[in-house]
Amino acid sequence: MILIDAITEPENALANAVKTLCAGGLVALPTETVYGLAADATNGEAVARIFAAKGRPQFNPLICHVSDLEMAKRYGEISPMAEKLAKRFWPGPLTIVVPLKANCGIHPLVSAGLDTIALRCPRGIVGQIADELKRPIAAPSANTSGTISPTTAKHVEDDLGAKVDLIIDGGACSVGLESTIVKPWNNTLFLLRSGSITVEELAAFSGRPVERPQSGAAIEAPGMMISHYAPKTPMRLNAQRIEADEALLAFGPKPIENAGAARVQFNLSPKGDLIEAASNLYDYMKQLDKKGASAIAVQCIPQTGLGEAINDRLCRAAAPKDKDHE
Ligand code: TXA
Ligand code: MG
Repeated sequence: MILIDAITEPENALANAVKTLCAGGLVALPTETVYGLAADATNGEAVARIFAAKGRPQFNPLICHVSDLEMAKRYGEISPMAEKLAKRFWPGPLTIVVPLKANCGIHPLVSAGLDTIALRCPRGIVGQIADELKRPIAAPSANTSGTISPTTAKHVEDDLGAKVDLIIDGGACSVGLESTIVKPWNNTLFLLRSGSITVEELAAFSGRPVERPQSGAAIEAPGMMISHYAPKTPMRLNAQRIEADEALLAFGPKPIENAGAARVQFNLSPKGDLIEAASNLYDYMKQLDKKGASAIAVQCIPQTGLGEAINDRLCRAAAPKDKDHE
């Protein structure tokens, strides 16, 4: 495995990423949301290597990262609503699910046999790589199936270092939560996964209500499976006080009743800023998971704005684990 710093060596990073992807290799790439485990989306063997490296059930379709709207149009049927969303939110943390174009060259493993494709144009080096490669980059989050998504190159190295050819270090991800996934369908906008682009923003922009997934929406976005984002230590949400041997994941300026009794504690955002909290979430969960605590007690986090996505991830992390996770 080679690691290249994209901040100090941007040209070297770009050239090597393109070369490795062209050769069917796996590259861990930084995006503003989380690090992705990337392969050429038209190369079936390369895509299969993603699943193998993650140990991920194959029925989970992958997001295809494109350089721009023009590239998106070569692979997906872009409706007027999809185009409007792309023009407003790309490059950025929004994934749009659209009908897959027939015979467009995307390997069927990427969309797991669905007749739709999830397209996203992230900020930063990934768009440039797709542009040079002249085709989309399939990339799920660069972590072992069922574990927390990586938000630094170090997270990727610790988890998948032996299984990737190249890691591009772009520093810590600015958003720190996976992209918002929407599916514009029959004049309705469905939210398949919450993220930093909020329901409120999408509703205001589209001028119509955004439908949320019904329970059992695992079919709509298979990665939404309940125990997706799970540390090994049990999580206990909305904690009012600390129990014996617990670690504390705090939020905001006001400590819970006996916060001092925690074995160890991190505050997602001492000033109560949900954006700061989102960007710290996975890193703090990972760190607390290593402390041998009886549980990770999580202080209540408001369900407004980005809080919805944070609470969604926390609920999944707290859910009983089953073998069906991603
Ligand atoms: O921020 C992100 O979205 C990161 C970065 C690397 O781009 N990627 C990411 O990928 O989170 P992944 O594979 O961990 O999650 C992709 C989600 C899954 O929930 C998957 O089921 C859903 O996208 N998905 C992919 N294609 C889909 C499709 N055609 N229809 C519905 N859901 C789809
Ligand atoms: Mg993932």
